[in-house]
Amino acid sequence: MIVRNEQQLREVRQAAQVAATVLDRMVQLVVPGLNTYDLDQAGRRFIDELGAESACYKYQVGSRIYPAFTCLSVNDEVVHGIGSLDRVLREGDIISVDVCTRYNGYIGDNCATVAVGEIDPEVRRLLEVTEEAMYDGIKMAKAGNRVGKISSAVQRKVEKAGFSVIRDFVGHGVGRSLHEEPQIPNFGKPGDYKRLRQGMVVCIEPMVNQGDYHVKMGHDGWTALSADGSPSAHFEQTVYISPEGPEIISVPVGKEAPVLV
Ligand code: MF3
Ligand code: CO
Repeated sequence: MIVRNEQQLREVRQAAQVAATVLDRMVQLVVPGLNTYDLDQAGRRFIDELGAESACYKYQVGSRIYPAFTCLSVNDEVVHGIGSLDRVLREGDIISVDVCTRYNGYIGDNCATVAVGEIDPEVRRLLEVTEEAMYDGIKMAKAGNRVGKISSAVQRKVEKAGFSVIRDFVGHGVGRSLHEEPQIPNFGKPGDYKRLRQGMVVCIEPMVNQGDYHVKMGHDGWTALSADGSPSAHFEQTVYISPEGPEIISVPVGKEAPVLV
């Protein structure tokens, strides 16, 4: 979408703030022993308390309907994991918590991968590099730049670190629908893809495998996993392309937006 006036901007900001607040509350619950069904249900309650709706619950792709309220992807799960009573978090795991909500009629979408207790230093590095790559991409989200400036910045950071960017899933514009134009791949050259325009709202979301970038589909028909079984990380923010440059709007209530330097 393109934000057209101050009123709309206020509503879009609030919507992204709600998604960020839910994510912030959920990651604080992550401890060894928690199962991912209970974490999803906690997300459901937070969304409800804030007067919002889950934008992934009952999300339909073809004939498949997504059954959970948030996407919870553990270890080698890349995206779209479904919370389950059988999936008990253990020390050393990582979990990607992806929250997309609707509020004021607008979608907010954000994700972070967090550690369950102490994790392997190499997996810690995977999380750090993925988050840094997201910020490298966000800094390129300026009106007039091609999307490829974001894509190439993300890819460079990830590959320099020896990891790989996933090709099968991409970032996206966001607005009244979850996935709008433009697509924002995490690979490509600076001159590739569409030009960004002032007022756009976009989700920048590198998904990074420690090993090879290929993914496979899980038996539930939703969960994407790394094909080689290596751990996978995912960070995402909703970004408004203001006249002054990129502005992260998926910021929890009472917190400051990360400074882009
Ligand atoms: N944030 C996820 C995405 O952009 C939400 C997907 S909803 C689901 O793909 F139903 F597909 F899980
Ligand atoms: Co998204």
